[in-house]
Amino acid sequence: METPLTVVILAAGLGTRMKSRKAKVLHRVGGRSLIEHVVRTAQALAPPERIFVVVGHQAESVQGAVATVGAGFGFIQQNEQRGTGHALMVAADRLSHLEGRLVILYGDCPLVRASTLEGLVAAQASSHAAGTILTAIMDDPTGYGRVLRDSQDRVTSVVEQKAGTPEVLAIREANMGLYCYRAELFWKHIQELQPNNPAHEYYLTDMVEILNRAGHAIGAFRIDDPREVLGINDREELAVVDRLLRERKVRELMVGGVTIEKPETVTVDPGVKIGIDTIIEPFAQILGNTVIGENCRIGACAIVRDSELSDDVEVGPFTIIGTSRLEQGAHAGPFARLRMENHLGPGAHVGNFVELKKTHLGAGSKAMHLAYLGDSQIGPKANVGAGTITCNYDGYRKNTTRIGAGVFVGSNSTLIAPVEVGDGAYLAAGSVITGDVPADALGVARARQVNKEDWARKRRELAR
Ligand code: UD1
Ligand code: CA
Repeated sequence: METPLTVVILAAGLGTRMKSRKAKVLHRVGGRSLIEHVVRTAQALAPPERIFVVVGHQAESVQGAVATVGAGFGFIQQNEQRGTGHALMVAADRLSHLEGRLVILYGDCPLVRASTLEGLVAAQASSHAAGTILTAIMDDPTGYGRVLRDSQDRVTSVVEQKAGTPEVLAIREANMGLYCYRAELFWKHIQELQPNNPAHEYYLTDMVEILNRAGHAIGAFRIDDPREVLGINDREELAVVDRLLRERKVRELMVGGVTIEKPETVTVDPGVKIGIDTIIEPFAQILGNTVIGENCRIGACAIVRDSELSDDVEVGPFTIIGTSRLEQGAHAGPFARLRMENHLGPGAHVGNFVELKKTHLGAGSKAMHLAYLGDSQIGPKANVGAGTITCNYDGYRKNTTRIGAGVFVGSNSTLIAPVEVGDGAYLAAGSVITGDVPADALGVARARQVNKEDWARKRRELAR
């Protein structure tokens, strides 16, 4: 039988170096909070009931962020953050009876891959060591704990930056903050930690020396690319990690058949799906749970969030789309805004400076220029002229505008909802439509034009 495994993720700190009112692990990179990334990855090792998150600062919000991953995760409250070791001392009550292996992760290491964690566990399992720590050789290990080894290359201790002598600080092998311990030995010695360091904190890293002293070896699992386990401490590192995660996602899409122009400028959230032969232009942002079909084009600087686009859809540059559905061959933009819950039928077309809210535009219908269509149900093959406004709000409630199939809405029409225009009707330009218009009728609602002969000439003469 496989040895059971428990994961503990430390996420109680505020993260002073972030200079933020928000707890560090709630900051977002690559479309997810730091803690969400780590919890998702931990799921490769253990079921939720064997994954525990140590929370302290803004515990409720951190628990909320974990809940977006799924249910069943355990939480341990560390009210006072007296160091990474203290977090485990607090957890001992709840966890020390859990046998097998104990994997400890820091909540501020979102890049780590499941395969790396599996490698760490395998390295520990195949050794006689009491624990194995994940290390990497870094060009600049500033800020990281340094890994000290004896003449036989055995790990003897981890020394923090603050406590390091110049010789220690010259060591380039750094502790990445991921560990796999034999649970029984770890819990047996955890209460031996002492805050005897300049920061007066209980350092988890001191477990290396403590276990050594008790006669147990500690191993190291060294990875090649330290970028994979960068810990985030400040906003600069946040930006670096965000870029790395974004690169991972666009690379994955390109491998899958999506063309991405200037991929370094494009932002795609991890949950997004995109079909083959779709082209993404520079600076586009595709967010949330958006699904895009094949052979689409997403224009430069467009933002698409939580929306569903079928095949052959074109989104012009600088277009913003939220929670909407665009059917095959639909076209939006440039400079269009589909605010929420809109539905463009097949081949429907929304042009520049058109805003849609909770509006359905039927197959092949067009609203090409400068319009606001809110709470509107528009049938197929209708033409909505430039400057059309649906007055959907009467100061108390939102009202619906219904426009039938094949209707021609003349430019600069104002439709005061609730109002209905029947199939095939025609609205004269500049009309203020307050009442229903029957099918196939002409609706005209504006003052008749009057021409006053010679009026302008007489006025000029008077002014002399
Ligand atoms: C830690 C390691 C260091 C390693 C580095 C890797 C220690 C003493 N040092 O340093 O060797 O190179 O990570 O990134 O462990 N936390 C709690 N409760 C606490 C203190 C911290 O939950 O009382 C959490 C924090 O929220 C954070 C994580 O533990 O998510 C790491 O803490 P942090 O203060 O960032 O550790 P480092 O100083 O970076
Ligand atoms: Ca850190």
